[in-house]
Amino acid sequence: MNYVMPKIDKMLHGGDYNPEQWLDRPDILNEDIELMKKANVNVVTLGVFSWSVYEPVEGEFNFQWLLNIMDNLYENGIYAILGTPSGARPAWLDEKYPEAMRVAKNGVRNHHGLRHNFCMSSPKYREKIAILDTHLANNFGSHKGLILWHISNELGGECYCNHCKHRFQEFLRNKYENDIKELNQQWWTTFWSHQYQSFEQIEPPYQNGETTIHGLNLDWKRFTTWNMTDFMKSEIEILKKNVLEVPVTTNFMRLYNGLDYYEMAKEIDIISWDSYPAWNNDYESLSKTAFDTAFDHGVMRSFKRDKPFLLMESTPSQVNWHPFNKLKRPEIHKLSCIQATACGADMIGYFQWRKGRGSFEQYHGAVLDHLGRSDTRVFRDVTEVGELLKKMEPVTGSLLKSEVGMIFDWNNRWAIEDLAGLSKNKKYEDTCRNQYEIFLRNGIEMDIISQEADFSEYKLLVLPMLYLIKPGYSNRLKDYVKKGGTVIATYLTGYVNENTLCHLGGFPGDGLQELFGLYIEEIDSLYPNDSNGVSILMNSHQSSVTFSVSDFCDIIKPQDATVIGRYTKDFYAGTPALTVNSYGDGMAYYVGARMDEKGMEYLYQKIWKEIGITPKQLPEGIEYHVRSNEEDTFEFYLNYTNEVKNIMDISEGTNLITGEKISQELSINPYDVTVIKLTNTEK
Ligand code: GLA
Ligand code: ZN
Repeated sequence: MNYVMPKIDKMLHGGDYNPEQWLDRPDILNEDIELMKKANVNVVTLGVFSWSVYEPVEGEFNFQWLLNIMDNLYENGIYAILGTPSGARPAWLDEKYPEAMRVAKNGVRNHHGLRHNFCMSSPKYREKIAILDTHLANNFGSHKGLILWHISNELGGECYCNHCKHRFQEFLRNKYENDIKELNQQWWTTFWSHQYQSFEQIEPPYQNGETTIHGLNLDWKRFTTWNMTDFMKSEIEILKKNVLEVPVTTNFMRLYNGLDYYEMAKEIDIISWDSYPAWNNDYESLSKTAFDTAFDHGVMRSFKRDKPFLLMESTPSQVNWHPFNKLKRPEIHKLSCIQATACGADMIGYFQWRKGRGSFEQYHGAVLDHLGRSDTRVFRDVTEVGELLKKMEPVTGSLLKSEVGMIFDWNNRWAIEDLAGLSKNKKYEDTCRNQYEIFLRNGIEMDIISQEADFSEYKLLVLPMLYLIKPGYSNRLKDYVKKGGTVIATYLTGYVNENTLCHLGGFPGDGLQELFGLYIEEIDSLYPNDSNGVSILMNSHQSSVTFSVSDFCDIIKPQDATVIGRYTKDFYAGTPALTVNSYGDGMAYYVGARMDEKGMEYLYQKIWKEIGITPKQLPEGIEYHVRSNEEDTFEFYLNYTNEVKNIMDISEGTNLITGEKISQELSINPYDVTVIKLTNTEK
């Protein structure tokens, strides 16, 4: 079993708990424990923003209140995840050490307040949090209830202070091995007279400063990731030095653009994240919101493919920071929680347990409202999820497996965003989401991975818009295809090296023309109301199908590649738009234009057939996943529609939720879920 934490062999259910806001109300604190038990809560996250209560005055510490609470929780069967409080600073700290306050992109230092805005380079801030973390480790490290450290909270943002500037210069000096000429070359600084004579001259991309050098912008983002990760590691190091066996996490945000999560994920033991979809919004279908969320879970799950992840935060009702904060409709709470487990989560956490009385989040949903009663819809929904999670205990520690990988890469994302020109409709993230969704609709699991991840075991590798290719990746790709793998790449593949210098000799560069058997002579960027078509000959070659394309159209010069689709319009009508090249024992597909989803699905279907991936016949609005361990297989079906859906060809098994035996046909009620433990025929 791949349990997410040693000894935790059940699904976790709970969330952020802020008892420090209620220390003057022992009646409420006692009631909390009783109600947590009633709601089937077995874990809470404590201390995330508690610095000013731990250390109200510099050097005077107070942890007894939390020890009492943790004892009480543990005696009542509730585990603790303990946060480090670096996400927000006490007033005394900013007053005495202003360097802890972040400097914004315009070069101006923040005032005291808010959160998530400390300077991650500041020696003083690091010193102060190190002292506090040492106390945490000493006071709580051996507590029986402690199962996980939670570093800070939703780490993010950038700092433009002098400490950070100097560290940036050091970072560059290391990267370019002290060779300013090499930096100038990689950043192409002769353009607009931007050459540097020394590393000391380089500034971060201040708002009113140098923002036009793509190499600088990209290195700044990498630096920010490195610096934030370094800060996080400084906290981890202290906890691990003092406490050997407790693992660490930090809570990620939805596809947060400011930090390369692939780098951060390497430094933590367990992946956790906070998911707040806009359920039942007025601009898309419920299943669209759900499938997007499945992609988000997929990204998180794929950071560590050998372990479940934790849904650290979600709301039991509404949030307070969407433009419109709708209540979760009946059944959506259950659907969304079970969806997370279907996608590989072994914990469902909420923000938060009890609504605070004041300040910024006073109207953010919680298990307990200001009303203070447990006979509410939300409390019942939460309790029901807790019951379901108990029934799903056998699923704990099982994993999702996939025959398909897709590259979704932060460096590539940053480079595409910064690319000046072509079309405004770059849509890298959406393009990746759309590919994922096609696979999901067809019941095919997909891992979402970085350029560094191992992909040798996949039958198919999908590379949407892989504009920036890291050193060595092209060769790994070629190797993979040579040995029988299949890749599918698109327009905007292989334009630049890791520092955004264009490859010479045509795109795709870095040796990839050989793999795809073609080169690109030009790329057309269409206006939003323009369109073209790609016509694909059917197998019989008697007739063809045409799909619409938008935004990007490559003008392709095939060398060894076989043409499978041609443009239908414009001055390049009849020229190749879709090709395939056989390379070694494998195949390399190239999609030269942004084809609509129907067209992509058509193409994927053809590929799946060729390489032996079997799609599943799923009715519209149904999400399907499989988790398994050495012994058992669990199938998840989620219905996001208001209709009963019937699914055929179900293997024999037991419905974990109702206990009923199931075989052949399954019928799922509107907005309901079914989790089937398949009958183990090998036993
Ligand atoms: C984030 C934070 C929490 C809280 C919630 C509100 O996820 O981590 O502290 O602010 O948002 O949705
Ligand atoms: Zn700084």
